[in-house]
Amino acid sequence: MIVKKLTLKNFRNHHYLTYDFDKGINLIVGPNGVGKTNIVEAIYYLSLVRSFRTPDEPNLIQKGMEHAEVSSVVLEGDIVRKIKVNLSKDGRRVLLNNKPISKISDLAKCVNVVLFEPRDVMLFRGLPKARRNFLDINISKRSHVYLDTISRYEKVLRERNELLKQENPDKVLLETTTELLVKLSAPIVSYRQMYVKDINDILIKITRALTGVEERIQIHYNPFVPYDKDFQEKAKDAFRKGLEGDLKRKATSIGVHREDFSVSLNGRDIAMFGSQGENRLVALALKLSPYFLIEDKDKRPIVVLDDVLSELDKNHQERLIKFLRKFEQVFITATHADIEDVALYELKQKTNKEVF
Ligand SMILES: Nc1ncnc2c1ncn2[C@@H]1O[C@H](COP(=O)(O)OP(=O)(O)OP(=O)(O)O)[C@@H](O)[C@H]1O
Ligand SMILES: [Mg+2]
Repeated sequence: MIVKKLTLKNFRNHHYLTYDFDKGINLIVGPNGVGKTNIVEAIYYLSLVRSFRTPDEPNLIQKGMEHAEVSSVVLEGDIVRKIKVNLSKDGRRVLLNNKPISKISDLAKCVNVVLFEPRDVMLFRGLPKARRNFLDINISKRSHVYLDTISRYEKVLRERNELLKQENPDKVLLETTTELLVKLSAPIVSYRQMYVKDINDILIKITRALTGVEERIQIHYNPFVPYDKDFQEKAKDAFRKGLEGDLKRKATSIGVHREDFSVSLNGRDIAMFGSQGENRLVALALKLSPYFLIEDKDKRPIVVLDDVLSELDKNHQERLIKFLRKFEQVFITATHADIEDVALYELKQKTNKEVF
């Protein structure tokens, strides 16, 4: 899919801005602080009605203004959709083809965005939660069963943790919630194992394209209990063994909510041994890999890469750009870039009178 048109009113520092975009690479350039990330933030915002930079929606409204608006025309093959979000300090209104939308989650199907942001360089070195989120978001996009199971799991987990916090937890209740957690864990682990296997093959190809070297790259997913025919028994056993610690800590210490994965490059953990550039390239490869798992080409996401070129040498920049030409539509922000055959959108700094 592609964003054909984007209009921002009072969104961040943009009082009024409207662009017609096309397929292929759209490069947004300009000096620091000019509002490049704000533009791609708006594109991402359309997919989830959630910013990747702030949980605080009023921050998106231009300072001193009451309302903001992000509107767009998005194409999915021959399907044309108009999506508009009106934001005010009291809330927001989302319109799909001029009609209010009832479920925000339906919007992700109309505007699917894959995002790479500067923070993603820390994907492998940072907290496991970021890596679990990567898995959960991408598997949920593929399977409603997974999304539903994960939210049920989280609900039961909260109940179990509440029980553990009590002075003398009810043993029967504790057993019931544990059994339910085990039951819900089985499909989660199974999906995660399958997904990691699928993505692994793609990750190898993308990393090779980006680095130009035959690197050995592999994702290692570490389930708390591997999924096989004995899963239920082994998982119950694991919870049983963990119970004493759980009662002491007053929280559930094992389970799918504590799982993680790591990535090795030429046999070594990239988080510990990889250079900054390697961490960046492999994190980027990983974030792009779900794109190729979507079979219906029209449904493949819009790719948004915020500040992806910095820290990459000329050779890697060129490789990356060559690779990005495979995608239907890509947005890149950069302070400067010398790239041919891309649609260029240049933002200029408003000049202030010199004070000194
Ligand atoms: N609600 C708002 N109202 C007005 N201006 C805002 C608002 N939110 C952010 N800004 C301004 O937007 C500017 C930052 O824009 P943005 O992060 O998009 O810059 P950028 O072009 O991506 O810069 P860089 O090259 O440093 O990444 C800042 O000057 C900031 O003060
Ligand atoms: Mg920026």
